[in-house]
Amino acid sequence: MVKICCIGAGYVGGPTMAVIALKCPSVEVTVVDISISRINAWNSDQLPIYEPGLEDVVKQCRGKNLFFRTNVEKHVYEADIIFVSVNTPTKTRGLGAGKAADLTYWESAARMIADVAKSDKIVVEKSTVPVKTAEAIEKILAHNSKGICFQILSNPEFLAEGTAIQDLLNPDRVLIGGRETPNGQKAVKALKDVYAQWVPLERIITTNLWSSELSKLAANAFLAQRISSVNAMSALCEATGADVQEVSYAVGKDSRIGPKFLNASVGFGGSCFQKDILNLIYICECNGLKEVACYWKQVIKLNDYQKSRFVNRVVSSMFNTVSGKKIAVLGFAFKKNTGDTRETPAIHVCKGLLGDKASLSIYDPQVTEDQIQRDLWKNKFDWDHPIHLQPASPTSIKHVSVAGDPYQAAKDAHGLCILTDWDEFKKLDYEKIYKSMQKPAFVFDGRNVVDVARLREIGFILYSIGKPLDPWLKDMPALA
Ligand code: UDX
Ligand code: UDX
Ligand code: ADP
Repeated sequence: MVKICCIGAGYVGGPTMAVIALKCPSVEVTVVDISISRINAWNSDQLPIYEPGLEDVVKQCRGKNLFFRTNVEKHVYEADIIFVSVNTPTKTRGLGAGKAADLTYWESAARMIADVAKSDKIVVEKSTVPVKTAEAIEKILAHNSKGICFQILSNPEFLAEGTAIQDLLNPDRVLIGGRETPNGQKAVKALKDVYAQWVPLERIITTNLWSSELSKLAANAFLAQRISSVNAMSALCEATGADVQEVSYAVGKDSRIGPKFLNASVGFGGSCFQKDILNLIYICECNGLKEVACYWKQVIKLNDYQKSRFVNRVVSSMFNTVSGKKIAVLGFAFKKNTGDTRETPAIHVCKGLLGDKASLSIYDPQVTEDQIQRDLWKNKFDWDHPIHLQPASPTSIKHVSVAGDPYQAAKDAHGLCILTDWDEFKKLDYEKIYKSMQKPAFVFDGRNVVDVARLREIGFILYSIGKPLDPWLKDMPALA
């Protein structure tokens, strides 16, 4: 029986290993983590992450060929294939601060593997890492090998949160990068054999190590660039009277461009896009490619601009001040169908409104009050460390409350901001919301979820990203 151990029971490690266990009954999969509370949650009825379909898969396999454990060394010692899926935060100090990946957790995992291994191992890079990390890890392993053969592979994960289980069951592709030596190719084949149990062979791509590592950064950079492109268009649409949804539809009909990932928004979030692009920028700079670095930097700048532009719209529409005004915030997660708030644009928008002394009432169906308070208190980049190593927030943030439902959030509010594309926000009783709000009642739709004509008919002054402006907003000075 092949034994797999995955170091890191997070958003990537947990769902990925659950699906491997489901599809490979003859493989024993153990997921280990240094966070005891996270492992306890994986072993409970309340999984540590919300992901549609995940609970089902975990319930089918847990205790059979899927295990969640804290005894990291023991399971690494026993495994044939070790996936490493630990945190890779952005460095906050020293060389490359604000851009480069901090590989502390990776390095410590590699040293631990070298320490405890007594037999040959395949070590698989699962978390996104800078290009050439495999080389560094190889060196650590080789210099501590005691005659053991370590083969390092890159097998980046392309799942998106909210659709992780579907993405894993039916991936567009599986990418495996390895050394072009006989031992390297043997390791590639061993991992390919695992995926081949449910993924059609033509979708399993094998490349050299560096192509695989770079493809992950490139894919995320391309995806994020599409969003920044459409968000750039949204600003121009508002200025000209074009409708960004009409433009996206027309542009996406070109089969060379394609219709997906062209929704204008308040900005992209999530644990990957910004971090991976920052990484890419740093790698370009280190290789003397200034122009290339500048090109990708602009994708992030545009995203920051989009978030600030949204805050400015809210403030300028409401007579240039939100001081003392209650603002309802619907949605805090970085996208629908997840409780994940890493790099969510909601943090930027909420901090911006709080900076202008607004009073916020926040509702999200999957994000806890504690999480919201911590996010609004934390510094940029603090989020990407194991949970038990993050600084605890002292008390709740002033002027922030968390509501149990959207109607409670909106009651007596002057304005309402929609920051996540949860389906339930499409179906709210906006008439009831309108009646309970202060007048004039404003809605700022950062995700284009509401019916523009219907809300205007009810009486709202409505701002929707990239849509022709309400006459009211046209008269207000744009502060962007
Ligand atoms: C992303 C990649 O899609 C995935 O392949 C990779 O493995 C990890 O990073 P994820 O961050 O989970 O996945 O979500 P994704 O669906 O890509 O959305 C990222 C952000 O972009 C979200 O904030 C989302 O709301 C936003 N977005 C997405 C838009 O604003 N407009 C769109 O059209 C699509
Ligand atoms: C373009 C648009 O494709 C077309 O829809 C529009 O109506 C007019 O402009 P065209 O300029 O004729 O058409 O050719 P196109 O095939 O788009 O190529 C433009 C340039 O991009 C060429 O120099 C081509 O060699 C280059 N190109 C194209 C690349 O370098 N790489 C590619 O992957 C595709
Ligand atoms: P991702 O979205 O990439 O899965 P997460 O932050 O959700 O990232 O998960 C990373 C996990 O890795 C965390 O649960 C963290 O506790 C764990 N981790 C970090 N370093 C180690 C280590 N040296 N050994 C075991 N687990 C680790």
